[in-house]
Amino acid sequence: MNTSELDIPLIEMRGITKSFGAVQALRGANLRLMHNEVLGLVGDNAAGKSTLMKILTGVHQLDGGEILFEKDKISFDSPRDSRAKGIEMIYQNLALAPNLDVVSNVFLGREKSTGVVSKLLGWLDEDLMEKETRELLNRLKINIQSLRVNVERMSGGQQQAVAIARAVAFQARVVIMDEPTAALAVKEAGKVLDIINHLRDSGVSVIVISHRLQDIFDVADRVMVLRSGETIADEKVADTSMDKIVKYIVGG
Ligand SMILES: Nc1ncnc2c1ncn2[C@@H]1O[C@H](COP(=O)(O)OP(=O)(O)OP(=O)(O)O)[C@@H](O)[C@H]1O
Ligand SMILES: [Mg+2]
Repeated sequence: MNTSELDIPLIEMRGITKSFGAVQALRGANLRLMHNEVLGLVGDNAAGKSTLMKILTGVHQLDGGEILFEKDKISFDSPRDSRAKGIEMIYQNLALAPNLDVVSNVFLGREKSTGVVSKLLGWLDEDLMEKETRELLNRLKINIQSLRVNVERMSGGQQQAVAIARAVAFQARVVIMDEPTAALAVKEAGKVLDIINHLRDSGVSVIVISHRLQDIFDVADRVMVLRSGETIADEKVADTSMDKIVKYIVGG
């Protein structure tokens, strides 16, 4: 990609509206995500953050507004459509299979077999999947000793790392994380922020929802604030302050 292509937003959401019955969750929200960018998405409870992301991933359908992906107008009828564009979301509950090991979680639903007979019989190529999982973790600088331990026996931070690895394993271009550090101790949260930095360095753009402003200021390039379903600020982290962002969040 040349420089001018990098200047075109990877994703633009314009004037997004969405109601659930009488609740107007989004009232004309805007979002811009650039290439190689970490965007912090903040706002009070019920501001509409998760709803906006679920529209971007095809979980919910928008009532009004438009979504552009590299300038093309798109609409996602299901998470499968957005995944086909390389958009992956990691939910707060991570949606890992606790009683499966790291390799099985990374390849869940996308298991590999080699050879015609194996494919027919559904035999999996465990060695290949383990090798690819190890390469993936190394690339993201995620340090997990045994890939054959069930993830329920791992720490919260390691589980978050496995969820991120799974999200980026298959040509992800955008990864959305809903509160990736909320349940973590400071040291483990720091490791997750490191992984987010490595993702950006490897050309993946990231949207991070967090109530921990310090994390946003540590890892994000830009921060946008939703309040009552509207985008009311969109600023470069380097050009703003936590005080300012808190004022946007609470209003008044
Ligand atoms: N599936 C749904 N059905 C009905 N109402 C919903 C649904 N999802 C969200 N809402 C409502 O839409 C509004 C925005 O919710 P949303 O989950 O997007 O907020 P949020 O910014 O993610 O909040 P939090 O920080 O608490 O996660 C809330 O009033 C919520 O109750
Ligand atoms: Mg939410």
